[in-house]
Amino acid sequence: NEAGHIEDIAFSFEGPFGKFDEHQLQRGLQVFTEVCSACHGLKFLRFGSLSEPGGVGLTEDMVKAYAKGFTVIDPVTKEEREATPADRFPENTGAGAPDLSVMAKARKGFSGPHGLLINPLFRGVGGPEYIYSMLTGFTGETKEQAGTVLYENKAFPGGWMSMPNEALVEGAVTYADGTEASLHQMSEDVSAFLMWASEPRMMVRKESGMKAVLILGLLSVMLYLTNKRIWSGVK
Ligand code: HEM
Repeated sequence: NEAGHIEDIAFSFEGPFGKFDEHQLQRGLQVFTEVCSACHGLKFLRFGSLSEPGGVGLTEDMVKAYAKGFTVIDPVTKEEREATPADRFPENTGAGAPDLSVMAKARKGFSGPHGLLINPLFRGVGGPEYIYSMLTGFTGETKEQAGTVLYENKAFPGGWMSMPNEALVEGAVTYADGTEASLHQMSEDVSAFLMWASEPRMMVRKESGMKAVLILGLLSVMLYLTNKRIWSGVK
């Protein structure tokens, strides 16, 4: 079962120099909060990550206020209470929807040409593109199978899924920053947010990778010159 039709998107975080767009991540968080969280959990993500640098860019006070909107079960007392920044987002299994914490890494939109890893380096492997294509890929056709309603989707492997096509509709949110909430815009924003959720430290990883490449490059030049000097007397 191959994934179906996947659209490539030039996300800001792709490539060795790519960076998350803070405003896009904030819009994506809004879509997740107001729409997706009705059915999906995000159980590996700590609320506190929302204020870490290189990501969503909320202040610590904003995170505190945001976390208060969620109820979690205290790991020690086992009683329900308001969430704090130290807690993780709740699980949500009621609708039979998979957890979205690492979904952007668990799915692949495209691969190849194989061999040089150039494509994955510059375009990624299309996890967020798959989510985008799925959210925009409903045809509106439905069918019933063994008592469940299935919705036709051009990106979902096999073509029919149990996530309803009206899960995300045009204008489902009103963006705080005034951006028009078209289906495409919301899908792109929430896909970027889910990429961040799968790897909140991506910017740190890219920066240290880049430093390592530069330092190793410098080391190569110095070793080359040292080698020349050591052997300069030997003909
Ligand atoms: C599956 C994303 C809203 C119910 C999925 C999958 C993703 C996803 C990535 C996995 C598809 C796969 O396995 O390849 C989202 C996003 C949402 C959203 C980003 C908000 C914009 C909702 C809502 C509902 C829902 C509101 C419930 C009304 C489901 C169900 C599945 C699913 C039941 C399992 C589908 C299947 O395996 O057949 N969703 N979803 N989702 N979602 Fe959502």
